[in-house]
Amino acid sequence: MYPERPAGIAFGGDYNPEQWPREVLEEDVALMREAGVNLVSLGIHSWALMEPAEGRYEFGWLDEIIDRLHAAGVAVDLATPTVAPPAWFVAAHPDVLPVTREGIRIGFGGRQTACSSAPAFREATARLVRALGEHYRDHPAVVMWHVHNEYGAPLGECYCEHSVAAWREWLKATYRDISALNDAWGATFWGQIYTDWSQIDAPRFNHTAVNPAQRLDYARFSDGQHREHYALQRDILREITPHLPVTTNFAGTVNCKSADLWQWARELDVIANDHYLRAEQPDNHIDLAMSADLARSVAGGAPWMLMEHSTGAVNWQPRNIAKRPGEMRRNSLAHVARGSDSVLFFQFRASRFGAEKFHSGLVPHAGTDSEQWREVVRLGADLRRLADLRGSRVRAEVAIVWDWESYWALELDWRPSVDLTFRERVDAFYEALWREHVTVDFVHPSADISGYRVVVAPSSYLLTEASAKNLHRYVEGGGNLLVSYFSGIVDEHDTIHPGAHPGALRELLGLSIEEFHPLRESETVALTGGDTARIWSERVRPAGAAAVLDFAAGPDAGHPAFTRHDLGAGTAWYLATAPVTGLRGLLTQVLDHANVSRPRGLPDTLELVRRGAHTFLINHGDEPVTVEGVTGTSVFDGVRHDGPVTVAPGAVVVVVETLRSQGEPS
Ligand code: GLA
Repeated sequence: MYPERPAGIAFGGDYNPEQWPREVLEEDVALMREAGVNLVSLGIHSWALMEPAEGRYEFGWLDEIIDRLHAAGVAVDLATPTVAPPAWFVAAHPDVLPVTREGIRIGFGGRQTACSSAPAFREATARLVRALGEHYRDHPAVVMWHVHNEYGAPLGECYCEHSVAAWREWLKATYRDISALNDAWGATFWGQIYTDWSQIDAPRFNHTAVNPAQRLDYARFSDGQHREHYALQRDILREITPHLPVTTNFAGTVNCKSADLWQWARELDVIANDHYLRAEQPDNHIDLAMSADLARSVAGGAPWMLMEHSTGAVNWQPRNIAKRPGEMRRNSLAHVARGSDSVLFFQFRASRFGAEKFHSGLVPHAGTDSEQWREVVRLGADLRRLADLRGSRVRAEVAIVWDWESYWALELDWRPSVDLTFRERVDAFYEALWREHVTVDFVHPSADISGYRVVVAPSSYLLTEASAKNLHRYVEGGGNLLVSYFSGIVDEHDTIHPGAHPGALRELLGLSIEEFHPLRESETVALTGGDTARIWSERVRPAGAAAVLDFAAGPDAGHPAFTRHDLGAGTAWYLATAPVTGLRGLLTQVLDHANVSRPRGLPDTLELVRRGAHTFLINHGDEPVTVEGVTGTSVFDGVRHDGPVTVAPGAVVVVVETLRSQGEPS
């Protein structure tokens, strides 16, 4: 359920008028009208104002703000402020303060200062949310609920006494019998057998590695506790305002490791994502695209909301680099191209005080006689021209497997190499596909993937038997699966699948691994065909698969590095290393084999995405780019195209109707 209002693309962001004198509200409302702001998120950190003392709810100050916004035609995404429990509450219930894995109880003075499992926090949450919901149940300005803020960030796991008590209940419900838990956790290893539930602690800091199955379960449990805290609020709000969608904003789909967003997605009415550029990373617009594609994927392809991004610099990175002219526009339109029906920011007016005073806003400290404000006004106008886009979908022929449980498991202690990280391989494959102008979806390995021409499994270390069967069926049915090394190794308890690696995928890939040979830091080995590879080498023993490339040097010289295995109507490909420059070339072979359509001959600085009848051409480079075969009307200037379109450096062209690119079948 996407919010019905505002119509078209939502534009605006977090708004914190409580930090300003009353007259600034008047100025803000006038500026919102000037820029075309139509949605703001209110009250995210306002618990102390909404409930200044236990049970005393005061919404008058907020009524005044919401009424004023409503009169100006600005809709409200109203927050439950549970991310910021007040000082009086924490002083009365110091046991709600979360404890880190190292055993440090955090103090008051930041935010996220209550444990999702703490009974006092849950009770106070329920009372406050009910009071808030009832007070605003009929307010016409309120169009949706914004529960909490970025669950799990920055602290995904809490190790307090309430968490441990809830954890033991979770374990009982999951395993029922303590011997089942001992089996699942491989507790005979290092003699960790439990004879009573009360002996089980959270996997807190230890001077050596802690049982990986215990840690994996704790990650599942902890994420579930946040979801319970969310669902508690969601259920109250649904009861009072069944007509309003409820969401919570993710702390960045690709960055918030502690939240399994496939699970979260089932609980939300609309997916809401926050994304901030990693300012110093070259080509950081590729990470942005990945975050947006993952948001769309967890939304099941439905339009989602970009709940926060920044107009310029953030304030929490080592060097907070301001966006260059045009960058905010490119970023915003890239999110829209990839399925967002909103462009919202943190925050409307930059704060004067507090921890985030050096963070950009729509209204900067410099005021409206600034490049920043002029860009904001222009963006508002652009988005109004894209109103028809609302609700339309992006179609992808290629998918990448993304599983948070595998992410957690892969990055526990004592793996064969510290260079094996989840994001390292996913990013490498995503970037290669982005540069090939291929739009991708992300999928869980157990999902229905039969509609994709190619599925890539970059770091699928943990793969259940059921998921492995799903991949098998996909290939037999005609799919192309490309698996990279260190995939299909363990089951859901971090126990190695029986036999030689990769136990879950041996048959499907037509090979086994005799030995891992991780490379030294900066070491490279030659491959046949001229490329070199890094990070990983291993001894592949084909059993049906054919070698496409071999290692030409290193511990596995003369043995396969890249294989294919035709199975049923499809093909399973396996890449046993990390090519230094040739990944895109290898991927191209798979894409061509699978007839994946994509534009040819375009530079990899141009982002090309189709959404419904709209084609977005975003030029991230310093040179103009000409795209051939463009037919349609340019949305921003109304120019009709029937042939080449030139996109200036840094510019964005959106063409509605059809586009046929060079070399692409008509
Ligand atoms: C997060 C939070 C916001 C704000 C921004 C700053 O995304 O949700 O409240 O702190 O970061 O970038």
